[in-house]
Amino acid sequence: MTLGVIFDNFFKSGGGFQIVARWLHVLSGIAWIGLLYFFNFVQTPAYAELSPGARNEAFDKLTWRALWWFRWAAMSTFLFGLLMLGIYSSDTPSGASNYADPTSVTGASILTGVLFAVTMLANVWMVIWPNQQIVIGSVRQQLAGGEADPRQPDSAKRGARASRANTFFSITMLWFMVFTTHFAPLYATAGDLKNTAIYWIMVLALWAWVEANALGYVGGLDSAWNKFVFDDHKKTIIYGFVYWAVIFFIGWEILLKNV
Ligand code: HEM
Repeated sequence: MTLGVIFDNFFKSGGGFQIVARWLHVLSGIAWIGLLYFFNFVQTPAYAELSPGARNEAFDKLTWRALWWFRWAAMSTFLFGLLMLGIYSSDTPSGASNYADPTSVTGASILTGVLFAVTMLANVWMVIWPNQQIVIGSVRQQLAGGEADPRQPDSAKRGARASRANTFFSITMLWFMVFTTHFAPLYATAGDLKNTAIYWIMVLALWAWVEANALGYVGGLDSAWNKFVFDDHKKTIIYGFVYWAVIFFIGWEILLKNV
């Protein structure tokens, strides 16, 4: 007699620990990305219509709380994701789902998703959060009758660009999260190294372009690309899908198909 199916081979690939980690990963992920979409699609346009006093109150009471859930949901998503990566990489009897191997189809797929997701995590903790602390610190000084911090406008812009980049990346990121186990294995079982290398060069170039722009390294925070794709959240969504289509159709339907 066993303790229960969920406890059999608990720590092995395909065992109970993996499904629990996957569940908590997706639960944390919806909390994170749900708040990201709230900030981008609801809060930003609404704050633009509020009076400065009401906006400062809302930053203090609402945004501050939302940011706590946002950054810890991001961390939790990441940690459960890492656990899953570890489970797959340490126990791959068939070799079919070696997530540590970027030349296997499942490896190429999950590592593409992880590239975008880890960039998003870094944007949350290293760009959005530090800059929002400056913005909210400044807002609180004003609520207490003091002066605004002169860094506030620049910090608000830096945080906003990274937040839009995360919204943009999220579309492609989630595709590869779900594609990995549910569709990628249909493409090929053994990678063609030349095409796989071209695939990775393309993905890394497209990734670097968007992230470098969002951080202001390509012509500043108001570069032509940033203004065109990130100023209006509807365009961020539309071009986010175009970006996914380029990576998926060129990357998978041309480069990695039947290699
Ligand atoms: C932060 C870094 C992240 C890492 C390291 C990571 C890692 C992983 C790994 C290893 C898997 C297993 C793939 C599979 O077996 O299907 C996975 C699946 C998944 N991840 Fe992530 N992930 C991250 C972020 C995210 C985010 C932000 C979301 C947003 C909701 C997300 C949603 C999902 C979903 C829905 C699945 C598929 C579950 C399934 O198909 O059964 N992940 N992730």
